[in-house]
Amino acid sequence: MMGTSAARSFTVVVAVLCLLLLPRHCHAKLSVKLSTKFYAKSCPNVERIVRSVMAQAVAKEPRMGASIIRLFFHDCFVNGCDASILLDDTPTFTGEKNAGANANSVRGYEVIDAIKAQVEAACKAAVSCADIVALASRDAVNLLGGPTWNVPLGRKDSRTASQSAANANLPGPGSSVASLTSAFAAKGLSARDMTALSGAHTVGQARCLFFRSRIYTEPNVNATFAAARQQTCPQSGGDGNLAPFDDQTPDAFDNAYYKNLVAQRGLLHSDQELFNGGPQDALVRKYSGNARMFANDFAKAMVKMGGLVPAAGTPTEVRLNCRKVN
Ligand code: HEM
Repeated sequence: MMGTSAARSFTVVVAVLCLLLLPRHCHAKLSVKLSTKFYAKSCPNVERIVRSVMAQAVAKEPRMGASIIRLFFHDCFVNGCDASILLDDTPTFTGEKNAGANANSVRGYEVIDAIKAQVEAACKAAVSCADIVALASRDAVNLLGGPTWNVPLGRKDSRTASQSAANANLPGPGSSVASLTSAFAAKGLSARDMTALSGAHTVGQARCLFFRSRIYTEPNVNATFAAARQQTCPQSGGDGNLAPFDDQTPDAFDNAYYKNLVAQRGLLHSDQELFNGGPQDALVRKYSGNARMFANDFAKAMVKMGGLVPAAGTPTEVRLNCRKVN
Protein backbone atom coordinates (compact mmCIF):
# COMPACT_ATOMS: atom_id res chain seq x y z
CA MET A 1 0.00 0.00 0.00
CA MET A 2 1.18 3.53 -0.69
CA GLY A 3 2.14 5.75 2.29
CA THR A 4 0.11 8.93 2.79
CA SER A 5 2.68 11.27 1.29
CA ALA A 6 3.35 8.93 -1.63
CA ALA A 7 -0.39 8.70 -2.20
CA ARG A 8 -0.62 12.48 -2.07
CA SER A 9 2.15 12.95 -4.62
CA PHE A 10 0.54 10.33 -6.82
CA THR A 11 -2.72 12.26 -6.71
CA VAL A 12 -0.90 15.48 -7.54
CA VAL A 13 0.88 13.84 -10.49
CA VAL A 14 -2.41 12.42 -11.73
CA ALA A 15 -4.08 15.80 -11.29
CA VAL A 16 -1.36 17.56 -13.28
CA LEU A 17 -1.45 14.95 -16.06
CA CYS A 18 -5.18 15.24 -16.03
CA LEU A 19 -5.08 18.99 -16.48
CA LEU A 20 -2.45 18.82 -19.21
CA LEU A 21 -3.58 15.86 -21.21
CA LEU A 22 -7.18 14.90 -20.68
CA PRO A 23 -9.23 17.82 -19.40
CA ARG A 24 -12.51 16.63 -20.91
CA HIS A 25 -12.31 13.26 -19.26
CA CYS A 26 -11.01 14.42 -15.94
CA HIS A 27 -13.93 14.37 -13.60
CA ALA A 28 -11.38 13.28 -11.01
CA LYS A 29 -12.65 9.75 -10.83
CA LEU A 30 -8.96 9.18 -10.29
CA SER A 31 -8.74 10.63 -6.81
CA VAL A 32 -12.22 10.16 -5.34
CA LYS A 33 -13.58 6.74 -4.63
CA LEU A 34 -17.22 6.69 -3.64
CA SER A 35 -18.61 3.88 -1.50
CA THR A 36 -22.07 2.93 -0.33
CA LYS A 37 -20.52 2.26 3.12
CA PHE A 38 -18.77 5.60 3.40
CA TYR A 39 -20.70 6.74 6.51
CA ALA A 40 -21.09 3.29 8.11
CA LYS A 41 -18.97 4.39 11.08
CA SER A 42 -19.07 8.19 10.98
CA CYS A 43 -22.84 8.59 10.51
CA PRO A 44 -24.71 5.29 10.47
CA ASN A 45 -28.14 7.00 10.63
CA VAL A 46 -27.66 9.41 7.76
CA GLU A 47 -29.82 7.49 5.28
CA ARG A 48 -32.65 7.16 7.79
CA ILE A 49 -32.59 10.90 8.53
CA VAL A 50 -32.61 11.88 4.86
CA ARG A 51 -35.45 9.50 4.12
CA SER A 52 -37.62 10.75 6.97
CA VAL A 53 -37.25 14.45 6.13
CA MET A 54 -37.88 13.70 2.46
CA ALA A 55 -40.96 11.62 3.32
CA GLN A 56 -42.41 14.59 5.23
CA ALA A 57 -41.56 17.06 2.46
CA VAL A 58 -43.08 14.91 -0.29
CA ALA A 59 -46.17 14.15 1.79
CA LYS A 60 -46.68 17.88 2.26
CA GLU A 61 -46.08 18.71 -1.39
CA PRO A 62 -45.43 15.93 -3.93
CA ARG A 63 -43.86 18.38 -6.37
CA MET A 64 -41.01 18.86 -3.89
CA GLY A 65 -39.83 15.36 -4.80
CA ALA A 66 -39.50 16.47 -8.41
CA SER A 67 -37.74 19.67 -7.40
CA ILE A 68 -35.10 17.76 -5.42
CA ILE A 69 -34.44 15.37 -8.32
CA ARG A 70 -33.82 18.38 -10.55
CA LEU A 71 -31.58 19.99 -7.94
CA PHE A 72 -29.29 16.96 -8.10
CA PHE A 73 -29.08 17.15 -11.92
CA HIS A 74 -28.29 20.85 -11.81
CA ASP A 75 -25.62 20.26 -9.17
CA CYS A 76 -23.91 17.37 -10.96
CA PHE A 77 -23.78 18.97 -14.42
CA VAL A 78 -21.78 21.93 -13.16
CA ASN A 79 -18.28 20.87 -12.10
CA GLY A 80 -19.54 17.63 -10.60
CA CYS A 81 -21.87 16.77 -7.73
CA ASP A 82 -20.29 19.07 -5.17
CA ALA A 83 -23.23 21.04 -3.77
CA SER A 84 -21.97 24.12 -5.61
CA ILE A 85 -25.57 24.95 -6.51
CA LEU A 86 -26.40 25.40 -2.81
CA LEU A 87 -24.03 28.32 -2.18
CA ASP A 88 -25.88 31.60 -1.69
CA ASP A 89 -24.75 34.70 -3.53
CA THR A 90 -23.14 37.37 -1.33
CA PRO A 91 -22.04 40.92 -2.17
CA THR A 92 -18.62 39.52 -3.08
CA PHE A 93 -19.57 36.12 -4.47
CA THR A 94 -21.73 35.10 -7.42
CA GLY A 95 -22.80 31.48 -7.30
CA GLU A 96 -25.05 29.29 -9.44
CA LYS A 97 -28.45 30.04 -7.94
CA ASN A 98 -29.02 32.91 -10.33
CA ALA A 99 -27.75 31.18 -13.46
CA GLY A 100 -30.32 31.15 -16.29
CA ALA A 101 -31.53 27.60 -15.71
CA ASN A 102 -31.72 27.99 -11.92
CA ALA A 103 -33.05 31.47 -11.13
CA ASN A 104 -36.70 31.46 -10.01
CA SER A 105 -36.81 27.86 -11.05
CA VAL A 106 -34.77 25.46 -8.92
CA ARG A 107 -36.56 24.70 -5.66
CA GLY A 108 -35.93 22.70 -2.53
CA TYR A 109 -33.04 24.53 -0.88
CA GLU A 110 -34.96 24.70 2.42
CA VAL A 111 -35.53 20.95 2.41
CA ILE A 112 -31.80 20.36 2.03
CA ASP A 113 -31.21 22.80 4.92
CA ALA A 114 -33.68 20.88 7.08
CA ILE A 115 -31.97 17.57 6.32
CA LYS A 116 -28.53 19.06 6.93
CA ALA A 117 -29.61 20.44 10.33
CA GLN A 118 -30.76 17.01 11.48
CA VAL A 119 -27.70 15.29 10.06
CA GLU A 120 -25.36 17.78 11.78
CA ALA A 121 -27.18 17.23 15.06
CA ALA A 122 -26.58 13.48 14.72
CA CYS A 123 -23.02 13.53 13.32
CA LYS A 124 -21.09 16.76 13.40
CA ALA A 125 -19.11 17.80 10.31
CA ALA A 126 -19.19 14.31 8.82
CA VAL A 127 -21.68 14.29 5.93
CA SER A 128 -21.28 16.50 2.86
CA CYS A 129 -24.15 18.53 1.43
CA ALA A 130 -23.38 16.90 -1.93
CA ASP A 131 -24.07 13.44 -0.48
CA ILE A 132 -27.27 14.71 1.14
CA VAL A 133 -28.53 15.90 -2.26
CA ALA A 134 -27.61 12.54 -3.84
CA LEU A 135 -29.48 10.60 -1.14
CA ALA A 136 -32.44 12.99 -1.12
CA SER A 137 -32.92 12.67 -4.88
CA ARG A 138 -32.80 8.87 -4.67
CA ASP A 139 -35.46 8.98 -1.95
CA ALA A 140 -37.56 11.48 -3.91
CA VAL A 141 -37.77 9.08 -6.86
CA ASN A 142 -38.76 6.20 -4.62
CA LEU A 143 -41.26 8.20 -2.54
CA LEU A 144 -43.05 9.16 -5.76
CA GLY A 145 -43.36 5.47 -6.68
CA GLY A 146 -40.14 4.98 -8.66
CA PRO A 147 -37.22 2.62 -8.12
CA THR A 148 -34.62 2.75 -5.37
CA TRP A 149 -30.89 1.97 -5.46
CA ASN A 150 -27.75 2.14 -3.33
CA VAL A 151 -26.03 5.51 -3.50
CA PRO A 152 -22.22 5.54 -3.56
CA LEU A 153 -21.14 8.22 -1.04
CA GLY A 154 -18.08 10.20 -0.03
CA ARG A 155 -18.48 13.34 -2.14
CA LYS A 156 -17.08 16.57 -0.81
CA ASP A 157 -18.52 20.09 -1.07
CA SER A 158 -16.97 22.74 -3.25
CA ARG A 159 -15.56 25.96 -1.83
CA THR A 160 -16.70 27.83 -4.89
CA ALA A 161 -19.32 27.81 -7.65
CA SER A 162 -19.52 28.93 -11.25
CA GLN A 163 -22.45 30.81 -12.72
CA SER A 164 -20.82 30.75 -16.15
CA ALA A 165 -20.33 26.97 -16.04
CA ALA A 166 -23.98 26.59 -15.02
CA ASN A 167 -25.05 28.72 -17.96
CA ALA A 168 -22.82 26.78 -20.32
CA ASN A 169 -23.46 23.21 -19.14
CA LEU A 170 -27.17 22.95 -18.41
CA PRO A 171 -29.12 22.21 -21.60
CA GLY A 172 -32.06 24.47 -22.47
CA PRO A 173 -35.64 23.50 -23.38
CA GLY A 174 -35.19 24.50 -27.01
CA SER A 175 -32.33 22.00 -27.54
CA SER A 176 -32.21 19.57 -30.44
CA VAL A 177 -31.57 15.88 -29.86
CA ALA A 178 -28.05 16.40 -31.21
CA SER A 179 -27.24 19.15 -28.74
CA LEU A 180 -28.80 17.23 -25.84
CA THR A 181 -26.67 14.24 -26.77
CA SER A 182 -23.51 16.31 -26.86
CA ALA A 183 -24.31 18.07 -23.55
CA PHE A 184 -24.59 14.66 -21.88
CA ALA A 185 -21.59 13.23 -23.73
CA ALA A 186 -19.53 16.13 -22.38
CA LYS A 187 -20.31 14.67 -18.93
CA GLY A 188 -19.41 11.12 -19.93
CA LEU A 189 -23.08 10.14 -20.21
CA SER A 190 -24.40 8.17 -23.17
CA ALA A 191 -27.45 8.92 -25.30
CA ARG A 192 -29.16 6.06 -23.50
CA ASP A 193 -28.35 7.66 -20.11
CA MET A 194 -29.72 10.94 -21.43
CA THR A 195 -32.98 9.39 -22.59
CA ALA A 196 -33.40 7.49 -19.31
CA LEU A 197 -32.59 10.54 -17.15
CA SER A 198 -35.02 12.69 -19.13
CA GLY A 199 -37.72 10.34 -17.82
CA ALA A 200 -37.56 12.42 -14.62
CA HIS A 201 -39.91 14.69 -16.56
CA THR A 202 -42.64 12.24 -15.61
CA VAL A 203 -42.99 14.33 -12.43
CA GLY A 204 -42.89 18.04 -11.69
CA GLN A 205 -43.95 21.14 -13.55
CA ALA A 206 -42.70 23.68 -16.06
CA ARG A 207 -43.48 27.32 -16.71
CA CYS A 208 -45.45 28.52 -19.72
CA LEU A 209 -42.49 30.51 -21.00
CA PHE A 210 -40.61 27.27 -21.67
CA PHE A 211 -43.33 25.45 -23.61
CA ARG A 212 -45.33 28.28 -25.23
CA SER A 213 -43.73 28.02 -28.64
CA ARG A 214 -44.18 24.26 -28.59
CA ILE A 215 -47.94 24.35 -27.98
CA TYR A 216 -48.63 27.21 -30.41
CA THR A 217 -46.23 26.66 -33.27
CA GLU A 218 -44.90 23.12 -33.50
CA PRO A 219 -46.32 20.64 -36.00
CA ASN A 220 -45.57 17.47 -34.02
CA VAL A 221 -47.87 18.15 -31.07
CA ASN A 222 -51.12 16.37 -30.21
CA ALA A 223 -53.94 18.86 -30.83
CA THR A 224 -55.99 17.98 -27.73
CA PHE A 225 -52.90 18.27 -25.57
CA ALA A 226 -51.89 21.61 -27.10
CA ALA A 227 -55.42 23.00 -26.60
CA ALA A 228 -55.46 21.91 -22.96
CA ARG A 229 -52.08 23.54 -22.28
CA GLN A 230 -53.15 26.73 -24.07
CA GLN A 231 -55.92 27.16 -21.49
CA THR A 232 -53.40 28.29 -18.88
CA CYS A 233 -50.50 29.35 -21.11
CA PRO A 234 -51.67 32.31 -23.19
CA GLN A 235 -49.89 33.48 -26.32
CA SER A 236 -48.63 36.47 -24.41
CA GLY A 237 -48.33 36.97 -20.67
CA GLY A 238 -48.58 34.29 -18.02
CA ASP A 239 -44.93 33.32 -18.42
CA GLY A 240 -44.82 31.87 -14.93
CA ASN A 241 -48.01 29.79 -15.19
CA LEU A 242 -47.25 26.17 -14.42
CA ALA A 243 -48.26 22.97 -16.16
CA PRO A 244 -47.45 19.40 -15.18
CA PHE A 245 -45.01 17.54 -17.42
CA ASP A 246 -47.31 14.52 -17.28
CA ASP A 247 -50.96 15.51 -17.01
CA GLN A 248 -52.21 11.94 -16.48
CA THR A 249 -50.15 10.96 -13.41
CA PRO A 250 -48.31 14.19 -12.50
CA ASP A 251 -46.93 13.00 -9.16
CA ALA A 252 -46.12 9.39 -10.04
CA PHE A 253 -42.61 8.39 -11.00
CA ASP A 254 -43.63 5.98 -13.77
CA ASN A 255 -42.91 5.56 -17.49
CA ALA A 256 -45.77 7.82 -18.59
CA TYR A 257 -43.24 10.37 -19.89
CA TYR A 258 -42.38 7.99 -22.73
CA LYS A 259 -46.02 7.13 -23.44
CA ASN A 260 -46.61 10.87 -23.70
CA LEU A 261 -43.73 11.30 -26.14
CA VAL A 262 -45.06 8.52 -28.37
CA ALA A 263 -48.43 10.34 -28.33
CA GLN A 264 -46.74 13.67 -29.20
CA ARG A 265 -47.59 14.99 -25.77
CA GLY A 266 -44.09 16.01 -24.79
CA LEU A 267 -44.26 19.35 -22.95
CA LEU A 268 -40.91 20.87 -23.89
CA HIS A 269 -39.44 21.01 -27.36
CA SER A 270 -36.42 19.16 -25.92
CA ASP A 271 -38.71 16.39 -24.60
CA GLN A 272 -40.35 15.75 -27.97
CA GLU A 273 -36.91 15.77 -29.62
CA LEU A 274 -36.39 12.32 -28.07
CA PHE A 275 -39.24 11.00 -30.21
CA ASN A 276 -39.33 12.85 -33.48
CA GLY A 277 -37.96 10.47 -36.08
CA GLY A 278 -34.48 10.57 -34.56
CA PRO A 279 -31.94 8.26 -32.93
CA GLN A 280 -33.77 7.90 -29.58
CA ASP A 281 -37.16 6.89 -31.00
CA ALA A 282 -36.58 3.15 -30.58
CA LEU A 283 -35.52 3.48 -26.94
CA VAL A 284 -38.43 5.80 -26.12
CA ARG A 285 -40.78 3.21 -27.58
CA LYS A 286 -39.18 0.48 -25.47
CA TYR A 287 -39.42 2.50 -22.25
CA SER A 288 -43.04 3.37 -23.05
CA GLY A 289 -43.89 -0.32 -23.08
CA ASN A 290 -41.49 -1.55 -20.39
CA ALA A 291 -41.66 0.27 -17.07
CA ARG A 292 -39.12 -2.03 -15.49
CA MET A 293 -36.51 -1.43 -18.17
CA PHE A 294 -36.92 2.31 -17.68
CA ALA A 295 -36.69 2.02 -13.88
CA ASN A 296 -33.47 -0.04 -14.11
CA ASP A 297 -31.84 2.24 -16.65
CA PHE A 298 -32.88 5.34 -14.73
CA ALA A 299 -31.36 4.06 -11.49
CA LYS A 300 -28.11 3.13 -13.25
CA ALA A 301 -27.90 6.49 -14.97
CA MET A 302 -28.50 8.36 -11.68
CA VAL A 303 -25.55 6.48 -10.12
CA LYS A 304 -23.44 7.33 -13.16
CA MET A 305 -24.42 11.00 -13.07
CA GLY A 306 -23.80 10.95 -9.33
CA GLY A 307 -20.24 9.84 -10.04
CA LEU A 308 -19.37 13.21 -11.56
CA VAL A 309 -17.07 14.89 -9.08
CA PRO A 310 -15.02 18.09 -9.26
CA ALA A 311 -11.77 18.09 -11.22
CA ALA A 312 -8.78 16.77 -9.30
CA GLY A 313 -7.07 19.40 -7.24
CA THR A 314 -10.24 21.45 -6.66
CA PRO A 315 -10.38 22.51 -3.00
CA THR A 316 -13.27 20.87 -1.18
CA GLU A 317 -14.61 20.41 2.34
CA VAL A 318 -17.58 19.12 4.30
CA ARG A 319 -19.63 22.28 4.61
CA LEU A 320 -21.35 22.88 7.96
CA ASN A 321 -24.04 25.08 6.42
CA CYS A 322 -24.91 24.08 2.86
CA ARG A 323 -25.41 27.73 1.86
CA LYS A 324 -21.91 28.96 2.67
CA VAL A 325 -18.31 27.83 2.76
CA ASN A 326 -16.82 27.07 6.18
C1 HEM B 1 -32.31 16.68 -21.15
C2 HEM B 1 -32.20 17.96 -20.90
C3 HEM B 1 -33.12 18.68 -19.95
C4 HEM B 1 -33.72 19.88 -20.20
C5 HEM B 1 -33.58 20.72 -21.45
C6 HEM B 1 -34.52 20.19 -19.04
C7 HEM B 1 -35.26 21.34 -18.90
C8 HEM B 1 -36.16 21.58 -17.87
C9 HEM B 1 -37.00 22.74 -17.77
C10 HEM B 1 -37.03 23.91 -18.74
C11 HEM B 1 -37.77 22.58 -16.66
C12 HEM B 1 -38.85 23.55 -16.16
C13 HEM B 1 -38.20 24.67 -15.36
C14 HEM B 1 -39.14 25.80 -15.05
O1 HEM B 1 -40.24 25.86 -15.58
O2 HEM B 1 -38.74 26.68 -14.26
C15 HEM B 1 -37.41 21.33 -16.06
C16 HEM B 1 -37.98 20.81 -14.93
C17 HEM B 1 -37.62 19.61 -14.36
N1 HEM B 1 -36.52 18.84 -14.72
FE1 HEM B 1 -35.50 18.98 -16.43
N2 HEM B 1 -34.41 19.18 -18.14
C18 HEM B 1 -33.55 18.24 -18.64
C19 HEM B 1 -33.12 17.10 -18.01
C20 HEM B 1 -33.48 16.72 -16.74
C21 HEM B 1 -32.86 15.67 -15.98
C22 HEM B 1 -31.67 14.84 -16.45
C23 HEM B 1 -33.52 15.60 -14.79
C24 HEM B 1 -33.27 14.69 -13.63
C25 HEM B 1 -32.68 13.53 -13.67
C26 HEM B 1 -34.56 16.60 -14.83
C27 HEM B 1 -35.51 16.79 -13.85
C28 HEM B 1 -36.48 17.77 -13.88
C29 HEM B 1 -37.61 17.81 -12.97
C30 HEM B 1 -37.96 16.73 -11.96
C31 HEM B 1 -38.31 18.98 -13.25
C32 HEM B 1 -39.54 19.53 -12.52
C33 HEM B 1 -39.06 20.33 -11.32
C34 HEM B 1 -40.13 20.95 -10.47
O3 HEM B 1 -41.32 20.73 -10.67
O4 HEM B 1 -39.74 21.72 -9.56
N3 HEM B 1 -34.47 17.29 -16.00
N4 HEM B 1 -36.42 20.74 -16.81
